[in-house]
Amino acid sequence: MTDAVRLPAPVLCGLGTWLPPRVITNDDLSRELDTSDEWIRTRTGIGRRHVVQPGTATSDLAVEAGRRALKSAGVAAVDTVIVATTTPDRTCPATAPLVAHELGLGTVPAFDVGAVCTGFLYGLAAAAGLLATGSAGTVMVIGADTYSRILDPGDRSTRALFGDGAGAVVLRAGDAGEPGAWGRAALGSDGSGSDMIMVPSGGSRDPIRPETADSADPYFRMQGKKVMRNAVERMAEASLTVAHRFGWGVDDIDLFVAHQANIRIVHAVADRLGLGRERCHVHLDRVGNTAAASIPLALADAAAAGRLHAGDRVVTTAFGGGLTWGAAALHWPDLSPA
Ligand code: ACO
Repeated sequence: MTDAVRLPAPVLCGLGTWLPPRVITNDDLSRELDTSDEWIRTRTGIGRRHVVQPGTATSDLAVEAGRRALKSAGVAAVDTVIVATTTPDRTCPATAPLVAHELGLGTVPAFDVGAVCTGFLYGLAAAAGLLATGSAGTVMVIGADTYSRILDPGDRSTRALFGDGAGAVVLRAGDAGEPGAWGRAALGSDGSGSDMIMVPSGGSRDPIRPETADSADPYFRMQGKKVMRNAVERMAEASLTVAHRFGWGVDDIDLFVAHQANIRIVHAVADRLGLGRERCHVHLDRVGNTAAASIPLALADAAAAGRLHAGDRVVTTAFGGGLTWGAAALHWPDLSPA
């Protein structure tokens, strides 16, 4: 009998974030739309969000976050760049090669992952595979989105929810037993719900052409209530799976970082798990739902708030369009986000 081969694990060694400086408050929105600070806070927990200026694209945010992640990791370069986004600079090509170029990384492999709000966790899983097989020694995973670019200016139900931002991590190949090593992610999808979250036009199903432009719908659409029901069940299940893979029970989790879509969803997942709400990190009040950027932004915010200490048992989880969902866990490393 031979000893089991232990594959290299993705170890978190750098974390950087970037939020565009322009802030839109609930009161700002209520001057444009039939909504109120009271409605948005009560139904979502969101107080304000950051939004890009005209002319700023997803890659601009990704590059800023990437630079900070390199600084946090104390390295000048990585072997591969993965950008998780559903708001790429353009439909073609992918955004990651441009980001790698802007970061001065030369000709490294670079590709996008499109799993909507679960994109960061899917990117992490792709990076884990590259590191485990020796295809890369270090990988940068960036979650970056500019939903303000695809929201219908007249749709109060989505304008209230989303903000722009980017969060990046640097991962190196390490040992599964060391602090910072992400355990195997639990991921899932259900395409039967693909119509619950979508941008109806602009893809190959319904391209926007001059002759069809009048009937095209280029905006993000979401059936919020249906999404909410699915999200709670899936995130709770995936969170338990990854906690169990580490041998943790719910009581062992020090910090729970769920996709920052809605405070009611975060709390409903915690309640379903039997996890005290005080162990959930919440910063959606200040940034809203930043889609693929949500988890790295929330982790950096938790670290800045002194809520993460070396050795802490952390579970992250997300749910998004596709439908897609996932979770991943780690022992927090000794790390200073930038
Ligand atoms: N201000 C005032 N009223 C509003 C607003 C607003 N900003 N938004 C919606 N409403 C109204 C609706 O029009 C509706 O009015 P009606 O009854 O006259 O039609 C009423 O409020 C209730 O709407 P619901 O959709 O039933 O409200 P709900 O309590 O479900 O909250 C929300 C809506 C916040 C969108 C919620 O459903 C939600 O957060 N869903 C999940 C979002 C999510 O998880 N996203 C994750 C994935 S996102 C991604 O992958 C990109």
